[in-house]
Amino acid sequence: MVIKLTNVDKIYVNGEIKTNALKAVDLTIESGEFIVVLGPSGSGKSTLLNVLSGLDVPTRGTIEVHDVTISNMSQKELTKFRRDHLGFIFQQYNLLSTLTIKENIALGAHIAKDSFDIDELLEKVGITDQKDKFPHQLSGGQQQRVSIARALIKKPLILFCDEPTGALDESTGKDILKLLNTLNSSYKTTVVLITHNPGIASMADRIIKMNSGSIVDIIVNKDKVQASDIAWS
Ligand SMILES: Nc1ncnc2c1ncn2[C@@H]1O[C@H](COP(=O)(O)OP(=O)(O)OP(=O)(O)O)[C@@H](O)[C@H]1O
Ligand SMILES: [Mg+2]
Repeated sequence: MVIKLTNVDKIYVNGEIKTNALKAVDLTIESGEFIVVLGPSGSGKSTLLNVLSGLDVPTRGTIEVHDVTISNMSQKELTKFRRDHLGFIFQQYNLLSTLTIKENIALGAHIAKDSFDIDELLEKVGITDQKDKFPHQLSGGQQQRVSIARALIKKPLILFCDEPTGALDESTGKDILKLLNTLNSSYKTTVVLITHNPGIASMADRIIKMNSGSIVDIIVNKDKVQASDIAWS
């Protein structure tokens, strides 16, 4: 088990308005799984990802990541835990514009005890020849490759992806998914990926469907397909 959520609630309070974004969520994710989370806008997907990765704290319930109970941690402990063990990829690439590609990736290694060799990773994500450029000189797909390399360099236990292909066209998006698939199988990195694109679910080990703050279905996918073969929508 790499992640375990027990009876997790998240209630956002803004003045008089309370939003019950997660309602009594139970979930276990095994090490090395490729998980896809689907659900309509506002169903709680990003909230789920935020609490299970320690970016936000739940209102109730417990969250264990790799046998560590992160739901009891202080902000400072959480920050350190995330920095040491977790990788994040978002729809926006969040690269630093004044640093080169190689420097951006090196930032991800931080003070990690054990990290991948940067040149090996550049090769693996297919941007070796871009390494001395600046982010604005790259295409969207290339920039997303950089953000993946930056997230992976510290050998995270889990890679959290919130709409990683949301800003990409079909062919570039499939290339990025193929890369995530390769990394998941070659490094056994657990991947939790949120998407609006139901086609992407066909490459998951398990598909989690959310609606109105609850997990309404978990589907074990016995016929995983290659990224290149998914139906794009
Ligand atoms: N910081 C916040 N403060 C108040 N309400 C919030 C906050 N973040 C999210 N919400 C509310 O919680 C609910 C779940 O939001 P969430 O962002 O998790 O949805 P989502 O499934 O990721 O949607 P989308 O597909 O549009 O990204 C929504 O009703 C949203 O308005
Ligand atoms: Mg979201």
